[in-house]
Amino acid sequence: MRVLLTGGSGFIGSHIALLLLENGYDVLILDSFINSSSNVIKRIKIYLDSKDIKYKLETINGDIRDKKLLDSIFINSINENKPINIVIHLAGLKSVAESLIKPLNYWDVNVLGSLNLLLTMKEYECYSIVFSSSATIYGLCESLPIREDHKISPVNTYGKTKVAIENMLYDLYKSNKNLWKIISLRYFNPVGAHPSSMIGEDPIGIPNNLFPFLTQVAIGRQRMLQIYGDDWETNDGSGVRDYIHINDLAEGHLASLEYLNSKDSCLEFINLGSGHGYSVFQIIKQFEISTGCKIPFSIQSRRDGDIAKCYADISKAKRLLDWTPKRSLEQICLDGWNWQVNNPNGYS
Ligand code: NAD
Ligand code: UFG
Repeated sequence: MRVLLTGGSGFIGSHIALLLLENGYDVLILDSFINSSSNVIKRIKIYLDSKDIKYKLETINGDIRDKKLLDSIFINSINENKPINIVIHLAGLKSVAESLIKPLNYWDVNVLGSLNLLLTMKEYECYSIVFSSSATIYGLCESLPIREDHKISPVNTYGKTKVAIENMLYDLYKSNKNLWKIISLRYFNPVGAHPSSMIGEDPIGIPNNLFPFLTQVAIGRQRMLQIYGDDWETNDGSGVRDYIHINDLAEGHLASLEYLNSKDSCLEFINLGSGHGYSVFQIIKQFEISTGCKIPFSIQSRRDGDIAKCYADISKAKRLLDWTPKRSLEQICLDGWNWQVNNPNGYS
């Protein structure tokens, strides 16, 4: 089974690549490295070699908006008699804040990039895709835990591009219900790192997200954590989110591939989260207990665009994919901490 993994060098993609290779999939990564390092690929290879795992991994440095490149990837794979059976599509831009400042970049990369990819897949008769969507598409949570049939109402450009791509997938499936096999995975908050500390999250510049900021405070790269509001309508006043271990998320993709393989055609939108909500204060406390580090923090005003609570109903993933997250919050803290300690400057 050969998988084209777009964005395979990024935080999520690298963990999926490693898991697929460990499970005997042949992986072709397409990444522009605009938000990742080529050292990721080296690390994946070192890890697999150290475990004596035989693998088939190719990497192409390129942009999903480059139609000629996509054509050549599919043509070559057919000519070389190793056709792409399935695409896992993660390549894209993901910063909520940046999407509000540079909206056209987000429409260009995320939406036109995905359109380009789908056009090429159709042309070369590759009809199976797993797409990275996001919980951000739900916008303000009206009921918790959030089910997949919750109202879709994104409040930022990034989220709107994810909805546009989901709509494109929906229309494509409806155009020929016997042909396409599509899963759109709506991720909640992927965090932590591979337990080997060989790969993990390495944001460029100052991290926007809680978890990488926290681990950088713990090693002294950032002075203190700013908590965005202690006056939310939650148990302790800080924001509540659904943090899922990155390896649980990666396993959700493996389960999705198996599901698609068992179907003649399908279209499913599926939440991937832990199913639990934890507040910022709870995360700090668990991190301190698990690692022995003290996290200095200060309370700031609420961040624009934030919401009080968001966590997933994951019963659909359990039911359809036979998938359940296995790693605890403690494991998340330990793996995230080990990655940061062993790689204080990330991949550089
Ligand atoms: P990431 O930035 O680490 O990975 C994305 C990868 O895509 C990077 O390696 C980047 O270089 C590559 N890329 C960007 N534009 C490209 C282009 N035009 N052509 C080819 N490659 C390109 O991000 P991530 O956290 O690994 O996220 C992966 C996917 O999951 C994204 O689509 C993101 O929107 C989605 N997602 C992420 C989160 C999260 O919290 N990390 C939550 C929900 C959804
Ligand atoms: N937070 C802080 N201090 C920080 C960073 C975050 O207090 O320095 C708080 C936030 O206010 C929020 C919680 O920690 O309550 C989590 O914030 P993150 O920025 O880590 O995550 P978000 O839930 O805001 O957003 C993330 C991704 C989005 C994605 C969404 C759902 O950034 O792209 O999860 O998947 F859409």
